Amino acid sequence: MEHWTRYWNTTNALNSFAEGEYSTNYQGDILHFWERILKDTPQHSTIIDLASGNGALAVLAYQYGVSHRYNFNIHAVDASDVGVAGRLTSFPSSVADALANIAFHSNTFIENMPFDDASADLLISQYGLEYSELNRSLIECARVLKAGGRLCALMHHTDSVIVKDSKAGLRVLEHLFAKNGFHTQCMALLAHARDLLGKGGSIHDDALFQTLNKQLLDTAKHDIDHFSDSNERLWFDSFLSKITPFLYRVSQDSHRCCAQYFHDLTLYRHRLKDQIHASMDHRKVTALRVALMANGFEVSFTPMYMDGNQVGIAMIAIKLS
Ligand SMILES: C[S@@+](CC[C@H](N)C(=O)[O-])C[C@H]1O[C@@H](n2cnc3c(N)ncnc32)[C@H](O)[C@@H]1O
Repeated sequence: MEHWTRYWNTTNALNSFAEGEYSTNYQGDILHFWERILKDTPQHSTIIDLASGNGALAVLAYQYGVSHRYNFNIHAVDASDVGVAGRLTSFPSSVADALANIAFHSNTFIENMPFDDASADLLISQYGLEYSELNRSLIECARVLKAGGRLCALMHHTDSVIVKDSKAGLRVLEHLFAKNGFHTQCMALLAHARDLLGKGGSIHDDALFQTLNKQLLDTAKHDIDHFSDSNERLWFDSFLSKITPFLYRVSQDSHRCCAQYFHDLTLYRHRLKDQIHASMDHRKVTALRVALMANGFEVSFTPMYMDGNQVGIAMIAIKLS
């Protein structure tokens, strides 16, 4: 879970799309969806945010509860080590206040939650439930929910712009990290520069440095032509813009800095793969419907749109008995 733990511990964002176009994904129709659900939740209810990350949805539920005097009791579970409780001061005070009042359960899987049978009124999840092993997590959700309680989720869907965009990002990353591709050549160049500068040499009159540099430039030009799709170009340009400063002003430290950046990119690649793998499609939605009904739920699914673009599929499941 390093790919999630590092993300949640190095961002002050509460959700996982803070760096992208959908950083505002708890607004508009998505916000209204969650507000409708919270409005119908009785006072003093126990609510659990499943696969919470830094707790964007748990915070939304807490703040809704405070402003409507619902006094919710809120928990948040995530398989990674989210660690927000240890760094509350890095968040704005209104958010820190909400986070301090949420019981976070790190390193906790939806498939095996530390809650009593029939102890929760509402289970909520945004881009989270679908990451779990659904055949096991649904049994656990049914166990933890009271009769009449609801399991509500907004899930990734293969038709959504988010998933299509992630696929473009993943293609770019796979290409950057391909055998003897941009990543390998860049690190070879910077390792050579580090050794050379360490011995008091100069990169300007070093033939090998110039050759490696030319090779890397050719690869970058080739990659630019390779990514004809506008989404892929955006991803490629954004990665390149982080690396080029180290190549324009090569120092002994450039190798270390770039290695750290590439490591972060490998974790990013892992998160994108997770997301694409977790995304629902028609077949998975049908299987989920059948599994929920087998576990005593009544369920409905609706595609979720923002600004005319599909951003996922919303599910409301009610535990009948
Ligand atoms: C897309 S992120 C969470 C998004 C968050 N709910 C939000 O609104 O931004 C997916 C999360 O699922 C967590 N996760 C993956 N598998 C899990 C599981 N089986 N149980 C609990 N959490 C899981 C990951 O650690 C990660 O934090």
